[in-house]
Amino acid sequence: MATKKLFGPKGWTPDRIKTLKGKTYLITGANSGTGFEASKILLSKEAKIVMLNRNPKKTTDAITVLKKELGNNIDVSFIHMDLADQSSVRKAAEEVLVKIPRIDALICNGAIAQVPRQQLTVDGFESQLGVNHYGHFLLQGILFPLIEKSKGRIVVVGSEGYKMGIKTIQFDDMNWDKNYSPNGVYSQSKLAQIMSVYELQDRLKRAGKNDVKIYACHPGASSTSLIKTSGSLMTRFIWQLMKLSPMVQSAEKGSYPEVMCAIEANLDQKGFYGPTGWSYFKGPVGECELAPHALDKEVAKKLWNLSEKETKFKWVF
Ligand SMILES: NC(=O)c1ccc[n+]([C@@H]2O[C@H](COP(=O)([O-])OP(=O)(O)OC[C@H]3O[C@@H](n4cnc5c(N)ncnc54)[C@H](OP(=O)(O)O)[C@@H]3O)[C@@H](O)[C@H]2O)c1
Repeated sequence: MATKKLFGPKGWTPDRIKTLKGKTYLITGANSGTGFEASKILLSKEAKIVMLNRNPKKTTDAITVLKKELGNNIDVSFIHMDLADQSSVRKAAEEVLVKIPRIDALICNGAIAQVPRQQLTVDGFESQLGVNHYGHFLLQGILFPLIEKSKGRIVVVGSEGYKMGIKTIQFDDMNWDKNYSPNGVYSQSKLAQIMSVYELQDRLKRAGKNDVKIYACHPGASSTSLIKTSGSLMTRFIWQLMKLSPMVQSAEKGSYPEVMCAIEANLDQKGFYGPTGWSYFKGPVGECELAPHALDKEVAKKLWNLSEKETKFKWVF
């Protein structure tokens, strides 16, 4: 998969969207950064947004800002969900199934990154793997029947960081007890998310299920609170400096790939979408080259089976 500058020299931009009236999008981690900006774009095109967030106060504040900017008539609601707690993910997903009649796309955007010291979730998973991968793996699985009924999509927000670690899954020590490194584990968690996208596509194809589309994308280098929320003091300092440089783009632009994958017709599911400029930090949104290790079938199958075991959730196709 080579880099492709789709949609002309400017790449994909939200100007392409006409109306999304009647469409429903679920977004995890929607109270800040790219998730917030994606919500704003979709709401501005008349879509209904359901935020799946962990922090009620930040969510109320985010909704207040959105209403101030877009008007009180926007259709935005919130269901509490902590991706770091599998019971919370199950509870939120069950609530979605009761309250929300359709899902045009589930955008798996929420994440933590560069956690300085090993932390375990309540379920005993290393925190970045637990939040970014296992949390979303379970959420996708429980919501899949409704997504399928809606002929909807799953969009996974990965990271170019998937290339910056050991480039595989450390199956013999998934929690990195022996060699914990903030970046190594973040990289593995993002690789796990991306690998699961292409593995799910293959499983759906084998099952003859063509109604759901599954996409992987990344936001480039975007000015958000990601490192501020979970990174060490030093990483936060370096990232603050980087954010001041022209290498980093706005959170709004960082949200374009996930919005594009949620709504654009005729996108090749095998693509990996994001900004196509230097090092894929910013630039016109199109298709980025995917490193071969992200498509290693043996690793992907093993990861899928392990993820089903760890989340105690068996996908039914
Ligand atoms: N910014 C970049 O340059 C960059 C680069 C590559 C990839 N990404 C990816 O882009 C996506 C969006 O991140 P961002 O940059 O926009 O960062 P962000 O502003 O920190 O947004 C992350 C969101 O995830 C939420 N979140 C964190 N832990 C959660 C949990 N346990 N349960 C539920 N929600 C949780 C956060 O909620 P709280 O507000 O409660 O903390 C926040 O809303 C992530 O998948 C990230 O890996 C970002």
